[in-house]
Parts: sequence; C-alpha cells; structure tokens
Amino acid sequence: MNAKVIKIQYTTYESEAELNSGTFQLYEEAKKALDTAYSPYSNFQVGAALKLSNGEIIRGSNQENAAYPSGLCAERTAIFYAGSQFPNEIIEEIFVLARKTGDENLVPACPCGGCRQVLLEYETRQNRPIPIAFKIESKGFIRVSSISDLLPFKFDASSL
Ligand code: THU
Repeated sequence: MNAKVIKIQYTTYESEAELNSGTFQLYEEAKKALDTAYSPYSNFQVGAALKLSNGEIIRGSNQENAAYPSGLCAERTAIFYAGSQFPNEIIEEIFVLARKTGDENLVPACPCGGCRQVLLEYETRQNRPIPIAFKIESKGFIRVSSISDLLPFKFDASSL
C-alpha cells in the first residue's frame, strides 16, 4: 500500500486589479455574461467568457429549465457554442463568475464537476491546456493553467 499526494499549482489574485490584461478582459466579459443568465429556479447567475485564438470572445450564461436537469451551466453554454461555431479555433482561456439574482456582488463559485469534464474534453481535443480563473473568496480569484488540474483521475477517451 502506498499513500500518495497530488499537488496542483494555482495563482491567487487579491482583486481583479492584479489580473493581467488578457485575463482581466475575460473577467469583464464574464461579468457581462451574468446579465444574460436565465435562472428563475435557482436565482443564481453564472457567467463564463472564453477567448479563441482568432481573437473572438465567446460569452455564455446558465440557462435553466422547468425540467431542472435540462438546464445548462454557463461554462458548457459557452464552450458548446465555441465548439459549434468555431470548431478549428484554439480555446485560449476561460473566466467564470457568479452572483445571486438581484445582487451586484460577485460570489465565490468554482466550475462544477460536469463542466470540468466537458471543458477537459476540449482541452484534450485541442492538445493545449486551457487556463481557467474564477472567484474563491470575497475579493480574491484563482487561476489554474489547465483544466486537468481541476480534474485529477479524469475519465477520457483513453479509457474507451
Ligand atoms: N451553474 C453554472 O452555470 N456553472 C457551474 O459551474 C455551477 C452551477 C449553474 C447551474 C444552475 O443554473 C445554477 O448555477 C445553480 O446551480
């Protein structure tokens, strides 16, 4: 028997002012995406923004449904749009933000497990890591340089 440890590296930012300009641009776009959330059931708005290698910025927000599981998270809304409209572009980076409906303040929220799995598929497909940033504390953000950092012991095509 062996006990092992997995380490991941991530960068913390005390506020958006510390983000580099490319990441800050995505932060602003993810904030805009919050306005398009359709979340009458959870009253929780999520916005995602990703940048493609052609310079295009894609925004996505959570889209809920009266049949709850039929709704879709912001990250998947954005990345499926990117995959459908720009199948040959590299996804360079993603930012995800959340807030409660009716409250302008951002709340900490990490990408859910299902979104990690989906984002990982695109990272593997393009054979290039996709950095992702999101809010962790009242003011702070974190950024990891690859989706796979958020999903150790991943399930991917190599298992099939
Ligand atoms: N949600 C996202 O959009 N992304 C995530 O990574 C986590 C959760 C949405 C789904 C649902 O509309 C609401 O947040 C509450 O779970």
